Amino acid sequence: MSTEMPATRRTVLRGVALAGAVGAADVGLSACGGKKNGSSDGPTTAVDLGASSAVPVGGAKLYRDDKVLVSQPTQGTFKAFSAVCTHQGCVLDTVDGTTASCPCHGSEFNAETGAVVRGPADKALPAVDVKAVGGKLTAGPGA
Ligand code: FES
Repeated sequence: MSTEMPATRRTVLRGVALAGAVGAADVGLSACGGKKNGSSDGPTTAVDLGASSAVPVGGAKLYRDDKVLVSQPTQGTFKAFSAVCTHQGCVLDTVDGTTASCPCHGSEFNAETGAVVRGPADKALPAVDVKAVGGKLTAGPGA
């Protein structure tokens, strides 16, 4: 009779210890639950971005809906990059001069080269084809 009590107590304690370990594992999993997009691509087809004059010379413009970042380093020369952050796939949301920023964890990219200016992202934005014809910008595959 008295020998069952310690065994029961030990069983309960073991159960509590296991539950704690499982709980810790759950916490660990959810802590890294940030889903990596897996794709840093911008548009999948050529998209019309409107007037090329909307992109300032020496600056950049973000076309967030189309996931494209376009800069114009010199008059008439355009560069375009995916606006999907290479860290975890958020779409960039602001441009200041030639620096584009990600709202999720603060990564910054050079809009003229796609290079990382500030992490945590460690890969440059992929280049996207872009062309300006008749004052209109088109970006994406086949542009
Ligand atoms: S998704 Fe993390 S910094 Fe952009």
